[in-house]
Amino acid sequence: MGIACAPSALGTAAGADLPAIEVRNITKRFRDDVPPALDDLSIVVPQGVIYGILGPNGAGKTTLLSILCGLLKPTAGTVRLAGHETLSPEVKRMLGVVPQEPAIYPTLTGRENLEYFGRMQGLRGSRLAERIEACLQIAEIGDQADRRVEHYSGGYKRRLNLVIGLIHEPRILILDEPTVAIDPHSRSLIHQRLRELHAAGVTILLTTHYMEEAEQLCHQVAIMSRGRVAVEGDVHALLARHRDDSIQISLDRDPPSNLAQALQGLPSVGDVNLSGRCLTATAPHPLEATLALLQTLGEHGVGVESLDYGHASLERIFLIYTGEDARP
Ligand SMILES: Nc1ncnc2c1ncn2[C@@H]1O[C@H](COP(=O)(O)OP(=O)(O)O)[C@@H](O)[C@H]1O
Ligand SMILES: [Mg+2]
Repeated sequence: MGIACAPSALGTAAGADLPAIEVRNITKRFRDDVPPALDDLSIVVPQGVIYGILGPNGAGKTTLLSILCGLLKPTAGTVRLAGHETLSPEVKRMLGVVPQEPAIYPTLTGRENLEYFGRMQGLRGSRLAERIEACLQIAEIGDQADRRVEHYSGGYKRRLNLVIGLIHEPRILILDEPTVAIDPHSRSLIHQRLRELHAAGVTILLTTHYMEEAEQLCHQVAIMSRGRVAVEGDVHALLARHRDDSIQISLDRDPPSNLAQALQGLPSVGDVNLSGRCLTATAPHPLEATLALLQTLGEHGVGVESLDYGHASLERIFLIYTGEDARP
């Protein structure tokens, strides 16, 4: 496995506490007659985290990444990578970029693509050969290394695209929708590799419109909507802050006619709704209320098929802050 990178963060000791990425008040206007693609947007990505930029299509995610890697100039605002405002060759070497559309040469083989991009990053000789082998292993595409990329499946292309971004062992990795529209095996392999890179000290910034993916993978997120950050923060803290106060219980039989009234009278339970075999209730303290509900159900001879409470998801948080549905 060739993922291990030097554990020291982004270079100099003095840089150890600097954020990996700082975006300050970025605005990007493509045209004067439409709202800006990015509107006074600021985010700070600390070193060593997996940071997710979430948002539906058109939110401005790709525009932001294009500015970060120097492909687009902002209309206003500043970007710093490891404290540097200019994308000097040294800073560029720190950065790995994985675009959404595989940027690979279809008529070259996987190995030749890696060699080409490795040379572009200044690698030569045994170091280049070593990195090519490591990348083929990381992407698990060794069996097709000497086939032309035009014959690769979509998943293989995306995996090759990923390791091209890793060929020079960047300290900061930026990925645009790395798992959109790929097979489940490639998706879980990419997740696993990103976790390994994180464990090796690499800072990862990725965009996604899959809220569940972000929940599983990211430590911090910024939820974007129409060029702005709607909410930003630590994923666990966000989920904890937005725990749903509703309880859902599926009953194992049709409820007796006096059940609804008995449930309404429970002191720890707020609104109760009984619809067929589905019981929903709100409660400020869901655990206490759930126990009271279960006891009352038992007293009425009704059993439980499933129970859910205190659920929170980024999808719901997205909806709360943007008023938009996260699903594309
Ligand atoms: N090169 C461009 N020229 C004009 N408008 C653009 C260009 N790139 C993006 N946009 C517009 O900027 C907005 C954000 O797009 P984008 O950054 O691609 O969003 P996302 O990646 O979140 O789907 C969209 O309204 C899009 O149409
Ligand atoms: Mg995009």
